[in-house]
Parts: sequence; structure tokens; C-alpha cells
Amino acid sequence: MTGIRTVRVELGERSYEVLVGAGARHELAALVPATAQRAAVVTQPGIPLEIDPGIPFEVFEIGTGEDHKHLGTIEALCRSFARIGLTRHDLVIGLGGGMVTDVAGFAASTWHRGVPVVHVATTLLGMVDAAIGGKTGVNLPSVNGLGGKNLVGTFWQPSGVICDLDALATLPPREVRCGRGEMAKYHFLTGDDLLAMDESTRIARCVEIKATVVADDEREAAGKPAGRALLNYGHTLAHALEIETAFALAHGEAVAIGLVYAAHLAHVLGRIDGDRVQHHYAVVGGAYELGTSLPAHLDPQRLLASMARDKKAVSGLTFVLDGPRGVEVVAEVPQAAATEALQVMAGRS
Ligand code: GLY
Repeated sequence: MTGIRTVRVELGERSYEVLVGAGARHELAALVPATAQRAAVVTQPGIPLEIDPGIPFEVFEIGTGEDHKHLGTIEALCRSFARIGLTRHDLVIGLGGGMVTDVAGFAASTWHRGVPVVHVATTLLGMVDAAIGGKTGVNLPSVNGLGGKNLVGTFWQPSGVICDLDALATLPPREVRCGRGEMAKYHFLTGDDLLAMDESTRIARCVEIKATVVADDEREAAGKPAGRALLNYGHTLAHALEIETAFALAHGEAVAIGLVYAAHLAHVLGRIDGDRVQHHYAVVGGAYELGTSLPAHLDPQRLLASMARDKKAVSGLTFVLDGPRGVEVVAEVPQAAATEALQVMAGRS
């Protein structure tokens, strides 16, 4: 396994390994549970990696895009699993980006009340975030205004994860931007100088940070100010931006803007100084070359209302914010401060 790093997600008897490196897909068979007789590979058209799990397998493609991330896709997969007689002693493999691993994980967690799953992440976003940690889910399409992203899902840890860096060379520029948005958040969760690392070391370090956070707080326990919720740094505004732009802004692009907004809000609240705000711009806009401006046409009141409905909110407007103790969950943020931070950002554009 030359050049392949192994990161362990420590979860007792559900612990597993994440293999990170160019060519890591060739180690897939080593992560297949010994009991698995065959595999259902869930993927999308155009995924650039070929895999060989070392057991017989069938491939099932799902559609591309958020429009396909719903319960109908799970039903279609379950019908395919039924057709091939997939059992609890077999395996589901999610081969693709975050949408594929979310959907494959959810289908695996519910089929026969739970079939093992291994993820092969093919996007940067999948590698540093979605494929690790066991969150699965689909969207609930809006009916009478009630619906939202990832509202239906489970916690279902994979038996192993492959992050094959060969896949990154094939990513379209927008997909790279999305991954960088998620990667940027890790700069503020620890004191690590991630920019000093080469890309594969940096990806492995992001995986390690996520593994540590998940091992400490697998199910995002309510009221834990420094648990898994920290992985949502920048996400409160990001989710609102995704909704208010009808997903014209992709997740990672929205997270980039959400990170600098969170810095402005922390500054307005007196939690960090101006240099720290500039550091956010230097990482997000400078090093990762991501957009940091609010889309001009959005109504601040709608953004605030959308942020107040965030499913992570514990009490009033809730954000993950930087501060003297590092990044932590802050509830009951005054609406005036959230509005002021939006105004400050808009004024910079
Ligand atoms: N993507 C955030 C988490 O896994 O908790």
C-alpha cells in the first residue's frame, strides 16, 4: 500500500478504516466484510473509477443532482436489491460523490434493517466530509412549504471508506470548488497549518480531524458545544443560501460564503478580532479562490428566517462561531447581530 494513508474512525466494534491515496481503490477488497457473498454497487453515470471488490457484484445507477435525492430513489434501489436477492450477509458499495454515498448509505441502512456498506468516494467533498461519519439521508421535496435537505436519514457507519485521489484529476472545476468549501472549514477547527501540507497530506488530515470529531460525538448530541456540530461551521448561512438561490449555489460554494459570514458574525459579537476575520478571507477567498460575496439579489430578512429554521438550531438563532475558546456552538444569537453581519458583508462586495 505504498503512499496510501490509513485513518481509523474509532467507534468500538463499529470502528473502520479510511484509506487515502492515489490508487486506494485497489485496496477495496481488503475492506469487504468476510461474510459478504456479493455486492450491490450504487453509483451514477460517468463516475470515473472502476472498482473490483473481489466478490461478484451488480451495478445500480441513480440519477445525478439533488432532484434525484429523494425516497423514490431509495425505493427503486430497494426493488433492485430485492430482484437480486441481496441479504444482510451481502454488501452495498457507494461509488461516487456525497449524493451517492448519502443515498447508498441510507438504502443500506434500511434494507433488511441494515446491510454493511463500504464507500468509495470520488469527489473531494465526499472524501473530506460526506463519506465519513455515517450520516446518510435524502431530501424531503417541499409540499405546502414543508420539506428540506437531508430531512430523512439515518446514522449508519460504513465498514470502510476508500478515498482514491486518482479520481480528483477528473473532477469538473465546480466540483473542485465544492470540495474546497468543505475543506476550508477544517482550517478553523484546529490550529493546523493545512496550507503548508501537500494535497494528499491535507486531505488525509481533514479525514483525521473528521474521524476524531465523529469518534467523540457520533450522533451529534444536543447541547454539546464542541461536538460533531462543529462540522457545520459555515453551514447555517450556507443552507439558507442554497434554499434561497434554489440550489443555484452548490453546497460547497455556499459553505465558503457561510464561513466568512460566520467570521463577521463572531466579530460583531466581540468573539474574534478583525485579523481573524481577514484570516477567513485569506483562506477561503485567497488560498482556495472561492467566492466570498453574498449574492446581490437576496433579501436579508428571508435569509434570517431561513437560518432560524435550520434543523441544527437548538434555541433561537444558532450558529457555530469562532471565539476565544475556538469554534463552538452558540445559541440565542441576537437577530440584530446576525443582520449587522449580513450588512457588513454586503458592504464589502
Ligand atoms: N457533514 C457533517 C457531519 O458529518 O456531521
